[in-house]
Amino acid sequence: MKLYLDTANLDEIREIKRWGVLGGLTTNPTLLAAEGKDWELQMKEVATEVDGPVSLETTETEAGPMYDQGVKLSQVAPNVVVKVPMTPAGLEAGKRLVDEGLRINVTLTFSPAQAILAAEIGAFIVSPFLGRVDDIASDGMHLLRQICEIYDTQGYETDVLAASLRHPMHVVEAAQLGADIATMPYEVFTRLVKHPLTDSGLERFLADWKDLNEKLGKEGA
Ligand code: E4P
Repeated sequence: MKLYLDTANLDEIREIKRWGVLGGLTTNPTLLAAEGKDWELQMKEVATEVDGPVSLETTETEAGPMYDQGVKLSQVAPNVVVKVPMTPAGLEAGKRLVDEGLRINVTLTFSPAQAILAAEIGAFIVSPFLGRVDDIASDGMHLLRQICEIYDTQGYETDVLAASLRHPMHVVEAAQLGADIATMPYEVFTRLVKHPLTDSGLERFLADWKDLNEKLGKEGA
């Protein structure tokens, strides 16, 4: 399972990239709005910073303008994947973009039926929003399980991207269920790496090493 950051913040991208685990990036209009900068420049900068696929989202609501916007977004950088919403217009624009050889990510997907539609138009990625399903007292992981099973059974090649992840166990369960990609905010990434036994274990190792070297009169290695 590839790990993507869900952000438009360059510092967050650079930090996770240094860890060597950044498989790609997802953005959305809300995340770009949070940066408060010229979105054209910001899109270019984030796409250049990331080695893997970078999803940039359309904001037009009619199929024609959405298609035109998708073509423009695809020209921001070679690694761009155009995000279209799971609406009739999104399907129509998305299919046209796919027919032009562009990669699309069908976003705002909340049901297995919608995920079937995304696969049928040849989407590169489908994004079920698990956390937002949980937020309305439903079961996001159940949705992901259904989509993964259907895609396996039907042999769909569209990658399943577990989106709207809120905590480390969402990431772990998405991996267990066979998601191809998990995208998460920086804060969830930083919680993935943390474990109190790692911290206390390292503290003990360093203390013992210091004691030994003090006894030996060595500087340490
Ligand atoms: C994914 O592409 C979306 O940008 C993201 O996962 C949405 O997450 P949220 O529900 O935390 O806003």
